[in-house]
Amino acid sequence: MNTQRNATLTVDGKTVELPVYSGSIGPDVIDIRQLYAKTGMFTFDPGFVSTAACKSEITYIDGDAGVLLYRGYPIEQLAHHCDFLEVAYLILRGELPNAEQKQEFDTLVKRHTMVHEQLIRFYTGFRRDAHPMAVLVGVVGALSAFYHDAMDISDQYHRDVSAFRLIAKMPTIVAMAYKYGRGEPFMYPRNDLTYTANFMHMMFATPCEKYEPNPVLVRALDRIFILHADHEQNASTSTVRLAGSSGANPFACISSGIACLWGPAHGGANEACLNMLEEIGDVSRVGEYIRRAKDKNDPFKLMGFGHRVYKNFDPRAKLMRETCHEVLNELGLHDDRLFKLAIQLEKIALEDDYFVEKKLYPNVDFYSGIVQRALGIPTQLFTGIFALARTVGWIAQWNEMIGDPEQKIGRPRQLFTGAQKRDVPPMARR
Ligand code: ACO
Repeated sequence: MNTQRNATLTVDGKTVELPVYSGSIGPDVIDIRQLYAKTGMFTFDPGFVSTAACKSEITYIDGDAGVLLYRGYPIEQLAHHCDFLEVAYLILRGELPNAEQKQEFDTLVKRHTMVHEQLIRFYTGFRRDAHPMAVLVGVVGALSAFYHDAMDISDQYHRDVSAFRLIAKMPTIVAMAYKYGRGEPFMYPRNDLTYTANFMHMMFATPCEKYEPNPVLVRALDRIFILHADHEQNASTSTVRLAGSSGANPFACISSGIACLWGPAHGGANEACLNMLEEIGDVSRVGEYIRRAKDKNDPFKLMGFGHRVYKNFDPRAKLMRETCHEVLNELGLHDDRLFKLAIQLEKIALEDDYFVEKKLYPNVDFYSGIVQRALGIPTQLFTGIFALARTVGWIAQWNEMIGDPEQKIGRPRQLFTGAQKRDVPPMARR
């Protein structure tokens, strides 16, 4: 971190100097760590709109320019030239792998794809109609009970083993949640397939029929994984970091990230978007829903539109839109009712003054929901697919935090607005 200048803050006639740091790119930050000691005041920033909670070398976003870089590489180049495990390697280790490193990494991931047979029994404790995210929160958290051999988070080797276990087992765990909901037998992983093809096998194969994943669809799903692999300090990643800051084990931390991701303002948006399209039902009703989205007195929001950081366009949405067309072409689904509806909604919203002025554009989840539906993935599992991919980012961010010598337990402060100190009234005393 580079510090060449200070920011001067004057409060109640008292002046304090606060160091300003520059990163490699992006806005500078004012270091306010000494603010309370020097002024007796906290800063107030609900929703972390202007607060950098950590330093990180993993992912960079320029929301105004629509830029997303993993370790410096633009998402467009990674999406076109790499597969998901190469991107995972990059996010975890900082550089793209050469052929030998890739082979070794892929083999290590494949070694960990099975889950303990005892874990399978956890599933039967859930109702068949349980939401897959409820199952994932429980099962991923439960992994903590299986891997006592690598729980020393201060040991880099233990952290690496946990990372492999999580990345390798997530597809198995997500596919099992799907199979359980359908009452179909679980499919064991096939390690002769690629990471993503194996996931499709565990989802769509049955013991009665041979299943060969379609390469166009495998590539589409692999791209969904790449685009969702990391997104710097979003709500679920910050949750993982906060949980991890207390020294909690990685499985518990990732489970907390899954819980946060489930919300409709975050990873739940792709499911909420598809449900919204179903609710709108027909192109003729798009106008009515656009009106509702603009009405201040109506809580309805157009799901899949808007983003906290991307205010001009979401680069992932552009790539996902491309994939959306490829998949619908491959499957001959261009006349699909919901797809036509989505295209109409996108067109109207992009031209509407309200959406233009507020810089509300389709986000990645607007298109990823349509792609996943075309792949045969049920709506309820969309956020589970997101969690599978984001596990790479979560574990990399968690690892970076644990390895940071400046790391402290996360402990936000508050502006207290409740009752001041008062006595229990005589009538309420025993
Ligand atoms: N439909 C209608 N109006 C919207 C929408 C929307 N989807 N999104 C934001 N607005 C309006 C807000 O009402 C607000 O209006 P106001 O200024 O008149 O009060 C204004 O636009 C600014 O929106 P905020 O909610 O303040 O923006 P914020 O950055 O806090 O929220 C968020 C971003 C949560 C993504 C929001 O746009 C939203 O809820 N979108 C729908 C859910 C969604 O698609 N989430 C996926 C995010 S991407 C991801 O997690 C991978």
